[in-house]
Amino acid sequence: MTRVFSGIQPTGTPHLGNWMGAISRWAADQQPEHLFCVVDLHAITVPQDPATLREQTLNMAAWLFAAGLDQTVGPIYVQSHVTAHAELGWLLTCSTQYGELGRMTQFKDKSAGKANVGAGLFVYPSLMAADILLYQAEEVPVGDDQVQHLELTRDIAQRFNSRYGEVFTIPKAVLPKAGARIMDLQNVGKKMSKSSETDAGVIWLSDTEKVTEKKIKRAVTDSDGEIRTGEGKEGVTNLLDLFSAMSGRSVDDLVSEYNGQGYGTFKTAIAEATNAYLAPARQRHAELLADKAELTRMLVAGAEEAERRAAPTLAKAKDVLGFIARG
Ligand code: TYM
Repeated sequence: MTRVFSGIQPTGTPHLGNWMGAISRWAADQQPEHLFCVVDLHAITVPQDPATLREQTLNMAAWLFAAGLDQTVGPIYVQSHVTAHAELGWLLTCSTQYGELGRMTQFKDKSAGKANVGAGLFVYPSLMAADILLYQAEEVPVGDDQVQHLELTRDIAQRFNSRYGEVFTIPKAVLPKAGARIMDLQNVGKKMSKSSETDAGVIWLSDTEKVTEKKIKRAVTDSDGEIRTGEGKEGVTNLLDLFSAMSGRSVDDLVSEYNGQGYGTFKTAIAEATNAYLAPARQRHAELLADKAELTRMLVAGAEEAERRAAPTLAKAKDVLGFIARG
């Protein structure tokens, strides 16, 4: 059975990009050897309001369960509940080079133009490497924007193994066929993101059906009216990708059905498909959030199991580094 790990930051409500690139795929084929984590240690690499962070961590966990992830199948938990993440994170930071971290595009984007950039934001990728390597994960299902971090994770693992002996499995990123990079509906040159400039370009899972429909109908396209992919067709291509990811139908199939019918019909079909697709999760999410004590209990159970699985690798890493055993 393939060992899988992935994570998501509890920074705001997830959007359709997070859903397509990550959450829905995690739930589609959950196995006992898969671990999924709400990465609150990563969230604090930029300033967070404590009360909001607390609320958003539970909110994000509820979306994972609403997607169909099941605590009795494999661990779903919160990163800070398993201290091995922070511990291995430090050990790997010491095997990561300054130059490598400086080349990360996410760091460059998030730090650009800022006067005060926290050191945590800079070493973020070595903590991410720890998340993955702690469980000897072979596959990491992510969206396109995390591929560079995965490459660095592989480099860190290889360097550590060649210096200290075989401790870590070398993982690989796994991208979905459709939906690996959902673009902002208003600004199709940018990925749909929690920090998008315009709310109109992002479909939040928490949006009402009316708002979802409005955003899709206002999505930027072009003036030639043709439903196809290609140069100058970035808006339409993004909608086709989204539609394909939700419906499981190929882009070619969607093009042959909708081309010639005009953008209005096309967008109405996508809006209806999106709302129908999200309806069960939206309802389940509201139910789950109504019982926060039960939600927390599920997360603690996940953390206990994750902790048990993490222990041998952490112990091995410390041993090969030359730390003396406690007895
Ligand atoms: P985060 O929280 O930004 O995003 C969570 C997941 O959503 C994917 N994603 C997208 N997919 C398609 N289209 C988009 N527009 C889009 N936007 C986001 C991301 O690729 C990701 O898979 N560093 C990670 C969290 C993390 C992690 C890990 C992931 C920490 N440790 C270990 C995997 C393994 C992040 O910030 O994701």
